[in-house]
Amino acid sequence: MTFSFRPTAVKAALLALSTPLFMAGANAATITISCGSVGQDFEFCKKHTEEWAKKTGHTVKLFTLPQSTTDLLGLYRQMFAAKSGDVDIINVDVVWPGMIKDHLIDLKPYSNGAEKKHFPSIVANNTADGKLIAMPWFTDAGLLYYRKDLLEKHGEKAPTTWEDLAATAKKIQDAERKAGNADMQGFVFQAKAYEGLTCDAVEWLWSYNGGNIVDDSGKITVNNPNAAKALTTAASWIGTIAPTGVLNYGEEDARGVFQNGNAVFMRNWPYAWSLGNGKDSKIAGKIGVAALPKGGADGKNAATLGGWQLAVSKYSKEQKLAAELVMYMTSPEIQKKRAIEGSYNPTIPELYKDKEVLAATPFFGTLYDVFTNAVPRPSTPTGLKYNEVSAAFWNATHDVLSGKEKADASLKKLEGKLNQIRRGKQW
Ligand code: GLC
Repeated sequence: MTFSFRPTAVKAALLALSTPLFMAGANAATITISCGSVGQDFEFCKKHTEEWAKKTGHTVKLFTLPQSTTDLLGLYRQMFAAKSGDVDIINVDVVWPGMIKDHLIDLKPYSNGAEKKHFPSIVANNTADGKLIAMPWFTDAGLLYYRKDLLEKHGEKAPTTWEDLAATAKKIQDAERKAGNADMQGFVFQAKAYEGLTCDAVEWLWSYNGGNIVDDSGKITVNNPNAAKALTTAASWIGTIAPTGVLNYGEEDARGVFQNGNAVFMRNWPYAWSLGNGKDSKIAGKIGVAALPKGGADGKNAATLGGWQLAVSKYSKEQKLAAELVMYMTSPEIQKKRAIEGSYNPTIPELYKDKEVLAATPFFGTLYDVFTNAVPRPSTPTGLKYNEVSAAFWNATHDVLSGKEKADASLKKLEGKLNQIRRGKQW
């Protein structure tokens, strides 16, 4: 986005005494930012960037994006390959830094140490070769959403194991269908073949003590009986407590069903809380949130770590200004507003003690441990190859869920595929 200096236009604007332009004067520029397009992403981005534009006199344009993080990564990779400066500020998924670090600038010269207020693990994740390539913006962890009212009506409690969840989901789904809601589903989640399925399936594996695809040392661990048990269990939900359509669901599809009052349980990220309690929601005030269940009595609660950062493209022609906007958007003030109005998890520990934040989103306090102990996907050990690893994993998982393959056979094949992707000892 280049700013072409046109004296007449500037003069006209000055005559109109446009305050913003007056501030930035002849240096007024346009910054293009991409903030995501799931839930309220776009709306919040617009609101807060407009505030900044008003304060500084610059113009901000919003770049519209595909919803799926997998599609978005593909798009950015094309833009980077073309060295395109069309987007100045890039939203970066927590699993991307190792893959796109070479296309982002070091933000340290602009941060004035602001990163020190954020969770050190996220800052470390966003640091490559000593450079701060992205500022933490919000963090995510998988949660179990449930219908408080329905659980109460049917004398049930929030489940603590996947086995409990399946039994409760079936009981309430069947009873509600009998009572006239033919569309009622027991459980909705993300099972389309994309990064979101990797997130859900990492939770299943970890909860059954089945490891994390690849361990921290880079060893491929996914072909093990506990992982197979986890996938077999998840496959048993399809067509029983979950609609077969879930095989094509992303976050927003699951939210749509739940928010319309047609599901007992949903796995989703924190953003769904604010929308579920919003004016247009059929289930406002009826939602409970808990940690995702354990895999049987010996299992663990597991939430996959998600989250987004903001970074400046190396190909931007307005790097300094873009970095300033990144610092504004990731600041405690904006993170607090986003936490209160949109249930986006701050990346600043201090905000989890803020009374207004906790009043708006109580589970930021009650489930604090879920957020701080979330399981990272193996993007650090697999580095540049992470997306290939994840794609192999989500495809192998999708094959099991759709009944194309048995879990043990699919995991064995996956192990072979991952060995090919790794080629040798190093990723
Ligand atoms: C959320 C998470 C992100 C994850 C994505 C998968 O946006 O924050 O980390 O990759 O969901 O769909």
